[in-house]
Amino acid sequence: MMKSSFSLGCGLLAVWLLNAVVAVEYYTQKPAFLPSCRIYEPGFTNCSTHSIQKLLEQLTIGIPEILESYGPFDPMNVRNIYFKQDNNEVATISANLTDVIVSGFSKTKIKESRVSKKDFGWQTKIYLPKMRLDATYQMAGRILLIPLSGTGHIFIEIEDLDILLLTKTRLYEKGGFTFDNVTSVRVMLNMSRVRTQLDNLFNGRSEEVARSTNQFFNDNWRDFYEALKPLILQTVEDIFYEIMSKVFHLIPANFFVEDIPTPQQLYGKNTYENK
Ligand SMILES: *[C@@H]1O[C@H](CO)[C@@H](O)[C@H](O)[C@H]1NC(C)=O
Ligand SMILES: *[C@@H]1O[C@H](CO)[C@@H](O)[C@H](O)[C@H]1NC(C)=O
Ligand SMILES: *[C@@H]1O[C@H](CO)[C@@H](O)[C@H](O)[C@H]1NC(C)=O
Ligand SMILES: *[C@@H]1O[C@H](CO)[C@@H](O)[C@H](O)[C@H]1NC(C)=O
Repeated sequence: MMKSSFSLGCGLLAVWLLNAVVAVEYYTQKPAFLPSCRIYEPGFTNCSTHSIQKLLEQLTIGIPEILESYGPFDPMNVRNIYFKQDNNEVATISANLTDVIVSGFSKTKIKESRVSKKDFGWQTKIYLPKMRLDATYQMAGRILLIPLSGTGHIFIEIEDLDILLLTKTRLYEKGGFTFDNVTSVRVMLNMSRVRTQLDNLFNGRSEEVARSTNQFFNDNWRDFYEALKPLILQTVEDIFYEIMSKVFHLIPANFFVEDIPTPQQLYGKNTYENK
């Protein structure tokens, strides 16, 4: 009894020490999983594409510093979403999503990662076989002319999702390395299908109408997607923004683009903002 609790204590101590050693403010050595890519040499886009793919695989395995501040990558917990859309033909809606869980990102395939030599922003083509959002919703308004009000569980499942991710960054210097400060993220999406289910629509007043309304949204998924597009785009942009901000404050840009200029070289000597 004594012995086993002693060894348990030692085990916990070892885990604690390991965590203390592993969690760093930022990397000072290139992680072994990243290939060496140089933007002023041929084959950069191919190299960069592999590099970002490796990064995603590592996120799925778990990068300690990201796990600590963001949590697991797949399924991931996403911040509550408060959404309001007025004066739109297809949807006038106020929706609150809580307990939001998004799954599918571990199957991400990076199709292309381009980096601009002008401002070092990125353009990334990404494919996800399936992205699914589960949440508790509270909703009031109209979608496709159907008045909705209810609260309950919602899922939205998007199949064959093509994402074009446009990222703007501002380079800054830390500890002799060049880092990316992600300043804006925009996404464009294409998909082959959207499935959805809103439980307890109309607060359970009519199961039959709720069922046929869900059926209608699924039969007319393109219209449903168009109606909720701002909400879906915002959710995907927020996810990428949060993850990329954390990753690129942690891992120097030099480890992705070895010959990236310093902020001084790129912006000129008199630019001391973001230092
Ligand atoms: C692209 O990069 C991968 C991995 O770095 C390499 O194996 C492959 O040969 C490259 N392809 C081309 C066309 O350069
Ligand atoms: C969403 O939350 C806000 C703030 O908590 C609240 O004012 C609003 O009524 C909620 N919307 C719905 C549809 O419940
Ligand atoms: C979506 O499809 C359109 C039309 O085929 C294409 O022009 C656009 O590049 C695609 N966007 C993405 C993100 O795949
Ligand atoms: C990153 O940019 C934001 C503004 O977009 C700024 O407030 C912040 O200080 C910057 N961080 C670093 C480390 O440069």
